[in-house]
Amino acid sequence: MIILSVKTCSGLDDLNLLSSVCCYWSARVFIATMPGLLLGDVFPNFEAETTNGKIKFHDFLGDSWGILFSHPRDYTPVCTTELGRAAKPSDEFSRRNVKMIALSIDSLEDHHGWTKDILAYNNEESGCAFPFPIIADNQRELAVALGMLDPDEKDKDGMPLTARCVFVIGQDKKLKLSLLYPATTGRNFDEILRVVDSLQLTAKNRVATPADWQPGERVMVPPNIPEEEAAVMFPAGVYTKELPSGRKYLRYTPQP
Ligand code: BEZ
Repeated sequence: MIILSVKTCSGLDDLNLLSSVCCYWSARVFIATMPGLLLGDVFPNFEAETTNGKIKFHDFLGDSWGILFSHPRDYTPVCTTELGRAAKPSDEFSRRNVKMIALSIDSLEDHHGWTKDILAYNNEESGCAFPFPIIADNQRELAVALGMLDPDEKDKDGMPLTARCVFVIGQDKKLKLSLLYPATTGRNFDEILRVVDSLQLTAKNRVATPADWQPGERVMVPPNIPEEEAAVMFPAGVYTKELPSGRKYLRYTPQP
């Protein structure tokens, strides 16, 4: 059983939700009454069993950023490549002060067996520790509560699988980014590192990152900063591209 403690965006109410949803139809009803997490929402402080023991999510995060990403099942090919890929740059995530945690609809016993396969897929020595915990969600309670189910992908019993979600949570425990991929499309972990770099940069500086931005490249001055203020705010200079409209909204500055 998963216990969710949800704080509303306004911060006015604490709502304790006790989810005992364990069949498809009750899951659908629950989803219908809970629209899912929105950017800026405080991420639920759920309790769960993981491969590293029982956790309470906010305590697990501490002062770090967090990434929670979900998987349809253990011992499946795409998930194995994804977790292998996520385990490889996990020091890249810790360097950015980001704690990783995965979720898959299977038992702890399955997770422990599967991580050995994943390490072997990565050509790691057997006996190596898997670098981050995996939540056991064999009753799908957390997947349902967080709106992670993919109704189009069913398991052999006709139950919906978990989609491939990525939630990035900031140090204030609020949702900063969510990605939702179907079970049949594996994620790109270089892109996840790239968005973390953008999220962390834009959390500290009043800038925005353009399409396909990579760390170190120039960034954009947001439209709500007046020209005179921008000149003071960005002493390295602001370059404004001339456009047919004559509007001066395409403004670049070196990455702060
Ligand atoms: C996979 O991880 O390979 C997978 C899982 C569910 C549906 C399709 C692919």
